[in-house]
Parts: sequence; structure tokens; C-alpha cells
Amino acid sequence: MAKKTIRFRIFENPDSASAQVAAEMALLIRERATLGRNAVIGFSTGKTPLPLFEELIYLYREEGLSFRNVISFNLDEYLGLKTDHPANIRNFMQRNLFDHIDIPQGNIHFLRGELSSGKIKAHCVAYEKEITDAGGIDFQILGIGRNGHIGFNEPGTPMNSRTSRVILGDTTREDAVPDFGAIENVPIHAVTMGCGTILEARKIILMAWGLKKSRVVRRAIIGPVTPKVTASYLKTHPAAQVFLDQAAASVLAQD
Ligand code: GLP
Repeated sequence: MAKKTIRFRIFENPDSASAQVAAEMALLIRERATLGRNAVIGFSTGKTPLPLFEELIYLYREEGLSFRNVISFNLDEYLGLKTDHPANIRNFMQRNLFDHIDIPQGNIHFLRGELSSGKIKAHCVAYEKEITDAGGIDFQILGIGRNGHIGFNEPGTPMNSRTSRVILGDTTREDAVPDFGAIENVPIHAVTMGCGTILEARKIILMAWGLKKSRVVRRAIIGPVTPKVTASYLKTHPAAQVFLDQAAASVLAQD
């Protein structure tokens, strides 16, 4: 049964929120290392997780946090980009996190947007199997699109969707223009973990910063569970939380 609201926490700024997310992740990673087990982390991209990545790199460099027992799965990828394109999710993650920590390269999983369209379906099925074989995602990080999407699950996506090829909506493509130079360079298709796939993670934290996310965050947190805002599906999850800075939380209390 869906809850009335998703549990949320408001922080002074993105850095303090991200430090808390990193601390929770570090605790999980260390607990698992003590038991000789892996921690399976689902990562998102975009601007939102950058302070989290910085904090994780800090914990690795200064606090002795090792990522050797981390298995990662990224949420999504654009379709049709060359593997060396800077906006590629794989390159973004390597540049902003993985190149700076000790996660074994073999533990890193990405969706492969460079595959020909005939191969995508089987690849999505295989990706889901890799997640299951790793024991499922322990801790999923999410951002939210201006249209309320999680991953690239655009408005209209059903709650039980699985990893698949999707069509990007207009706001998503507009928001990606800074990474591609012009709207006509932004891919029309992507591949994303499904809503159902995401909801199987044992712990989920969605992060949102800034005024431009405040209205959609409000719809996700206190509005109905609806395919119009796929982040609202998190209400059906037993342990999903939303971490906000003050600007993103600023319209939460308004009628
Ligand atoms: C993209 C990604 C999402 C991400 C969203 C928000 O659409 N597919 O996973 O959450 O952007 O991006 P930003 O954090 O830059 O606002």
C-alpha cells in the first residue's frame, strides 16, 4: 500500500545532504567488508550527485574508505552515442567518480547505449540478470528530472516497467542541451533501468537540489502515486527517502 508521503529530510545545502548520503553508503560498504561481502550500489548521473561523488572521493582519500567490495550498476544511458562521447554516462562516471577511487573495473556495470538496436533488448534482459546475480541492489541513488522522472522513466511509464529502450521527452532533452551543445545533438532514445527494477532496491535515496526541482519534488512527495510523475512510485517502497536542500523543499508546505 502506498504511503501518504515519501519520507523526506531537509538539509542546509547540497553538500551537507550529500555528506549524509555518503556516510550512510560508507557504513554499508564497511559493514559488508567486515563480513567479507559486497555492497551493490546503483548510481545516477546528472549534476545532482556531483557533491556526493566528491564526498565519496574524499572518504576514499582521507578516511581510508575502500570500494574494493563495491559492485556498481548505473541507471541509464543515451542510445546511439559513440563510446568516447563525453556525455556518455560511462565516461561521466569514470571522470567524476570511478577514476578516483579503488572500485575494481570488473565490478562496474553500465548499460551499453552504443549497441545496435537489434541487440538492446537482450542486453537489457542480461543487465537485469547481472543485478539479480549480484544479489540485487542494496542502495540506489536517484535524481529527479524536471518532469518527475527517475532514471529515464518518463511520464506515462508504468510502475512495473523493466530495463528497456525508451523515448526521451522534450524537457529531458532540453535539460541535456548543455551536455550536447544543441538540441539536435541530444539523443532521442535512451536505455534505462525500469521503475520496477529500481523499486526492487533495498534502500533508495532520491536527492534534489534547487528551486527548479521544488514543484516536481512536491508532486512526487505529497501528490498521488501516478505515472505522470514516476518518482511518486517511491511511495510504494518501504525504505525510500528524499533528501532535499532548502530551495528544493521551499514549496513543500504550500497548499
Ligand atoms: C537525467 C538522468 C536522471 C537524473 C536527471 C536529473 O535525466 N537520466 O537519472 O536524475 O537527469 O539531472 P540533474 O541532476 O542534472 O538535474
